[in-house]
Amino acid sequence: MLHGVTFTDNGIWYRNRYVRTPKYLAETAAGKIVYRSFGHNAPGGVLKNIGRLPANAANTSLIWHGGRLLALWEGGRPWQVDPVTLETIGEFNFDGKLSFRDPFSAHGKIDPASGDYYNHGLSVGGRGPQINIYRINRDGDLVARTGIPVKVAAFVHDFAFAGDYLVYFVHPVGFRNPLPFLSGWKAFNDCVRYDPAWGMEALVVDARTLKLVRRIRLDPFVVFHFGNAWQEGRKLVIDLMRFEDFSVNELLSDIFHAENDQGGVPWRYTLDLDSGSAQAEALPFACAGEFPQWDLRFSGKKTRWLYSAAIADNGTNGFFNAIQRLDGDTGELTMHDFGPGRFTSEAVFVPEGEAEGDGYLCCVVYDASSRSSEIVLLDARQEGLPQVARIPLRNHVPFGFHCGYTRRAFLPA
Ligand SMILES: [Fe+2]
Repeated sequence: MLHGVTFTDNGIWYRNRYVRTPKYLAETAAGKIVYRSFGHNAPGGVLKNIGRLPANAANTSLIWHGGRLLALWEGGRPWQVDPVTLETIGEFNFDGKLSFRDPFSAHGKIDPASGDYYNHGLSVGGRGPQINIYRINRDGDLVARTGIPVKVAAFVHDFAFAGDYLVYFVHPVGFRNPLPFLSGWKAFNDCVRYDPAWGMEALVVDARTLKLVRRIRLDPFVVFHFGNAWQEGRKLVIDLMRFEDFSVNELLSDIFHAENDQGGVPWRYTLDLDSGSAQAEALPFACAGEFPQWDLRFSGKKTRWLYSAAIADNGTNGFFNAIQRLDGDTGELTMHDFGPGRFTSEAVFVPEGEAEGDGYLCCVVYDASSRSSEIVLLDARQEGLPQVARIPLRNHVPFGFHCGYTRRAFLPA
């Protein structure tokens, strides 16, 4: 389900709508689960699942680029959506350049200098697993692509954009034995494993040529989401949320009974392009969390501020309930705790002035006691990230994954 909020001088316009994928249409008509999905098999046993891939849910993230709004998944192609009405236009394939074998990630990055949009997807073909990288120009044309072989069919959810370089952390999370999945016995997610013995490497790719520049070995860990990244001479500085294992994945299977609700912590990796070595340091954090964000106008350039959703110790710690900010220059932290029973997810940075960090953090807050949601704006510039606006909604909003922002205001004709 997509939610759209347009802020104007005359008020705020909210709308929401499901992406009408075949999965959505068939399951809504049937009133039950029909398709195999990321986290579960289709009902009906092995015969209903054998040889079938999980159905595209178009439910993970979205991007406005090249004059199109795309709803993104991870194991399939994007779905185009009308930015005003959020009505589904259809599956999108960049004029046939993205085949059904070309997964398109939920996490692309826009280069603010060129307007180019980079996205990727892992595919497994006759030559083994590879990370496919796509470059889409500012007009929305897919103009370049490459495939880089990797040892493991790893779950590479996101990557770092560091100006002239794209960096993919191939962590040891993936399929060791695809047979239980292919045979229809187990769901996709039940076959994904973390095994440090597989090793871990960072692939450094030239953003202009899409050529692999360097493979850099890393001590294994788990990463889903990256913060900003930039170059300092011949070194690349990369912020990310680090997990020590894959147990947090239980949250995706059963959020109410998962034992690990601790979130990740921010780390900074410095990769030396000349020596091929890596340095890693934990960054200060108020609370564990996820969904790192920054002022996207400065993607690929050194930034001072890193924001993330956090799990504050306020008596209701089962999910994200706060937003925190790290000052990367001084190490100072500040946090906005939404209070007991009030939960949030990713906050998107909404710029206002010219300087980095000059703006607001916008997120949805669900209040469990009133069973209602509101959209809030926090002032990103001030200590404590004070709330400066709240937009109460008539209904609650189910917890979501990711969000985005554009200056362009979409309004009904
Ligand atoms: Fe994500």
